[in-house]
This record gives sequence, structure tokens and C-alpha cells, in this order.
Amino acid sequence: MNRPFTPGIDVNAPAYVKHARAIEWVSEIAALTKPDLIVWCDGTTAEYDRLCDEMVAAGTMRRLNPKLRPNSFLAWSDPTDVARMEDRTFICSEQKEDAGPTNNWVSPVEMRATMAKIFDGSMRGRTMYVVPFSMGPLGSHIAHVGIELTDSPYVVVSMKVMTRMGAKVWDVLGRDGHFVPCIHSVGAPLATGQRDVPWPCNKEHKYIVHFPETKEIWSYGSGYGGNALLGKKCLSLRIASIMGKEQGWLAEHMLILGVTAPSGEKTYVSAAFPSACGKTNFAMIVPPPAFEGWKVTTIGEDIAWIKPGKDGRLYAINPEAGFFGVAPGTSNKTNPNCMATLKENVIFTNVALTPEGDVWWEGMTDTPPAELIDWQGQPWTPDSGRKAAHPNSRFTVPASQCPSIDPEWENPTGVPISAFMVGGRRSNTVPLVVESFNWDSGVYLAATMGSETTAAATGQVGIVRRDPMAMIPFCGYHMADYFGHWLKLGRSVAHRPHVFAVNWFRTDANGRFIWPGFGENMRVLKWIVERCQGKAHAQETAIGWVPDFDDIEWKGLEKFTREQFASVTSIKHDEWEAELASHDELFASLKTRLPKELQLRLEALRLGLAA
Ligand code: GTP
Ligand code: SPV
Ligand code: MN
Repeated sequence: MNRPFTPGIDVNAPAYVKHARAIEWVSEIAALTKPDLIVWCDGTTAEYDRLCDEMVAAGTMRRLNPKLRPNSFLAWSDPTDVARMEDRTFICSEQKEDAGPTNNWVSPVEMRATMAKIFDGSMRGRTMYVVPFSMGPLGSHIAHVGIELTDSPYVVVSMKVMTRMGAKVWDVLGRDGHFVPCIHSVGAPLATGQRDVPWPCNKEHKYIVHFPETKEIWSYGSGYGGNALLGKKCLSLRIASIMGKEQGWLAEHMLILGVTAPSGEKTYVSAAFPSACGKTNFAMIVPPPAFEGWKVTTIGEDIAWIKPGKDGRLYAINPEAGFFGVAPGTSNKTNPNCMATLKENVIFTNVALTPEGDVWWEGMTDTPPAELIDWQGQPWTPDSGRKAAHPNSRFTVPASQCPSIDPEWENPTGVPISAFMVGGRRSNTVPLVVESFNWDSGVYLAATMGSETTAAATGQVGIVRRDPMAMIPFCGYHMADYFGHWLKLGRSVAHRPHVFAVNWFRTDANGRFIWPGFGENMRVLKWIVERCQGKAHAQETAIGWVPDFDDIEWKGLEKFTREQFASVTSIKHDEWEAELASHDELFASLKTRLPKELQLRLEALRLGLAA
């Protein structure tokens, strides 16, 4: 029932909403943003279908050919609104020092004044949707509830896929349950009679704002991905990382997978790779044919919430319900489980359209189609000299459709983690795999991780930056305190996971990847799992334990030579000298709060590498 609404008077909450404070908050925000209409989303399929139809009519999405891609849509965004904007992301803690040097900070007083100004009337001419959602299974003790107020129907349908969204969340909240308030506007009010554009956004002003003390999120000006689906990076990483610090758990930019060995023994692994560095691929890895009896199952592919269990182990859940994954590079060769997941019920954004009404992106097939409509709606041929799909084009799809989904993926208590992996894109220096000596040196490995930047965020692509635990864009507080939290949490549990660093991305003199990657990463994963079980041999080096050539299973990959293995595993002194200098720079920037263990570990590494 979507009756017209008068700001400040009545927001027409459905009878099943019993939460007076939430209703009052919706009313306050409506009075500020001045939408024409308020819609309380119930999360039903009927609602999803209706919004999709409306967006097709408005030109925001196209329905794909139902024979080729049933119940699926393609949206093309404004070309200025294609990725997360890290320089427009703010942590507005009361004290600047609490946000730390790796976050943008503005005082909460100043930022609140800015928000009050830009959100004033920002939803004029539009509908404000009230979107209740749970990160984590409904009612689980690990889950947290958010309510997103948004003027974007694209956000509403995406939130239905990515979270547990709908009327049932109000039952969980009851009369006074806690929720994280999330306010989102595309920042494009419509004057009376003004025609809307297919992808409204604000080209001048964008803000993705977090208030740590009050745990609020305000996002303005963008309708894309992590900027707009506020349950994802804003709540499940930035705000949750702060909650985790306060309450003794971890919110991480990690995939979670299970490995079942031929013996039946199951090991759960969680891995932090930066954006567009292979989490989705690795989470759904299909072991090569030679690995008969081995099975990998998927719990999550982007975010993990990890809490100590009563048995002294760390348990992880995936707070999300869907995948918002990178399209380019995804194919039946690189990620067959993902391709199968994308069979139906998908929202694609910024990929290309085929003449048959299906989608295509770079890397999907070896030979590109002869003609396409590119992500900007222009005719495209293989020799037009531009990309048909945007490098950060993505799919939004229910996790339940993934053939490798783990039977335990919605278990509210989570799965026990035996190993943490961390890994970035490094064309040199970092070896294929190395295991830390112990927890503290593992935290060091993770804290000093570096990676070449990707198209997942706006800005220059391909420059190495330090990206501790793949959390540089997502940690909601001082990075050095975050290191301290990791050190402390590991010490507080009886069974600490082993920690490994990996690098699939070393290149040869011609800039080509040396390691075949993708399914072949199973060879490394097997060694990791067997290290956790105390079964695999390793060689000691200055930076940690590494496998010898003969410690890796090579059946089915005989063409990969000892020389090539040496070239992806070598630890070169000149490279590591430069690497440690860069660690030093990171630590210097964090020095007011840097845990002494990490500085000591750096000194030990220096001595070890010199010896
Ligand atoms: P976000 O969703 O942005 O957090 O990223 P993600 O880590 O889930 O990224 P995803 O798995 O979608 O990574 C996509 C990119 O990584 C594509 O360009 C892939 O081709 C590349 N990639 C994934 N695995 C490998 C690998 O083993 N080797 C190489 N060379 N590239 C890989
Ligand atoms: C990432 O950039 O790490 C993502 C995509 O997972 S977004 O949700 O847009 O942040
Ligand atoms: Mn991510």
C-alpha cells in the first residue's frame, strides 16, 4: 500500500512494524529527503518482479532473452558511476586518530552538517524504499540487522539478492531490537515533470560516510555496488570491523571454503585477497581431474565474520546471501561453478549485450562475438579497440544457486577455520606460498601484504600499495589498532589457524603470468590443508615455511617445470630489501599505535634475510 505521504506527519508503516524508534527515524529521514512516496519493502518475489518490470519500463534495466538467461536483467550505469570511490569514503569518528591514517576523516559535527545539507530534498520526485535486512541468517546470534532507506529501486532488488531482506526482519527486530541505520540517495532529485535518466546519480558530489560511535551509514551520489548496497562493505566490513573490535570478533574481506580430502576429512579455510584478486574464483575452485576424491565447497566469496567458539576454535559465517562478483575473466575454463551459478535469476551490470539478448564480457569465450552492444550502449565489434564490458562490470546472483555451495553455508554457528590465507597481486617478490612460523608472524605477513591496484575502485590501476589483510578500503578504525586486535584475538583462543601468504600473479619477462592459476591453485590448497593436518613437508626460509618442488602434487600438470617452480617461489634479496623498506614505511605511518610485536618481527626478518 503506497499512499502519498506528507513529510513529518505519517509514514504509513505497515501494521507488522512494531518498532517505534525505527518508524520515527524513517519519518525524520523522509522529512529531510522529501520523497514523493514511501514504500515499505516486504522482500517478496512479487515485489522484486514488480520493481524489475518498472526498471525495464524506465530504461534502467533490459530483460535478457528468457530462453538463454531466464529471469535475468542487464543494467548499464552512468559512465561516471562504475566502482567504489575510496577518496569519497569517510570514517567520521569523534577523534581523528581513531580513524587512523589509512582512512579519510572529517569531524562528525562538520560531516553531519554536510549530510543535512545535501540530503535536504535529495529524494524529491522519487520513492523512498524502506529496506529491512539481516546480514547473516535471520535470528542467528551472529547476525546483525540493518535498515536501508534508498531512492534506488536497483538497490532494493540487489539487496534482496545480497541479504536476507524483507518483512520477517521486523519480527527479529520486535519493538526495540538494534539495527544499523543506512541512508542512501542517488542524489538526483526530480523537479515536477522532469524526465528521469536510466541511471540517476550525482556527478558532482559523492559521499560514503560512516559514523563509528553511533554506527550509522550515509551514502550519497552513487548507485553502484559497494557505494550503494550498504549491507555489504559499509555495514559488513567498516561498521562490523568496529563492532568486532569492541566485542571480540573479526569482520574480514575473506572468502570461506571447505576442502574435503579423499579420506573424508574436512578442513575450512578463509582467504583475504584484495578486490578483483580472485576470491570468487578460489571460493568455487574445481580441483583438476588428477585430484580424484577431493572436493571444494563454498561458504562465501567476499566477506567473513569470525568469532571464537566455546571449543577454542574460530568459527566463520558468510553474512551475505548473494554474490556481487567481477564478470570479466569469468568463463567455463576459469570458473565453471560460477558460470553455472549465473544460469538464471541474475542482475548483470555494465557487461555487453549480444544480438540474441544474452550477455558477454572479456574472457567469457576465447573468440568474442562478431558484434555486440557495449556497456555504454554503443555498437561494438572485436576491432573497435575498446572493452565491450567495463573492467569492474559485475553480476548479482543468489548464493544458493552455486553448485559448489556448502551444505553448512547457512549454519548460524559457522564453520571452524583451520587456515587463513592472504594474497595480493604481485608480479615479483612474494612467493607462490609461504606459511608463517606462528600466529604473530602470520599477523605480520597479513599486515604487510601488498597488491597491485585493480579496477574495483576508481583511481590508477596496477600500482603496488600496502593492503593489510585486503582491508585498506574497509577497516573502520585505526589500522594499527586492527593489527593489535588480530594479535590479541589469536592469543585468546586455544586453536589458532595457521597463516599462509600466497601469490598467483608472478610474471615473466614478457609480463605473462607464470603460475597457471585458477583450478591449478588446488595444488597449493592441498599443501596448505595438509600442513594444517601436520602431513606435508616444508622447507624453512627467512620469511617462513615453503614447499619444495616435491612437496606439491604435480599429477596432470607435468608440463610445469622445476625451473618455472623456482621462478614463482624464489626469495630474492634485493627484492626483499625493497619490500622490507616498504613495510617500514607502512609501520612508520602507523607508529603512534603500532603493536611492538610487528616492529620486532620486521627487525628479525631483516637479520634473517641478511644471514
Ligand atoms: P571483489 O569481489 O572485488 O572483492 O573481488 P574477488 O577477489 O572476488 O575477485 P574475483 O575472484 O572476481 O577476481 C577476478 C579477477 O582475478 C579476474 O581478472 C580473474 O581473471 C583473476 N584471477 C582469479 N584467479 C586467478 C588466478 O588464479 N590467476 C590469475 N592470473 N588470475 C586470477
Ligand atoms: C570489492 O570492491 O571488494 C567488491 C565490490 O567486493 S563492491 O561491493 O563494489 O565493493
Ligand atoms: Mn570485495
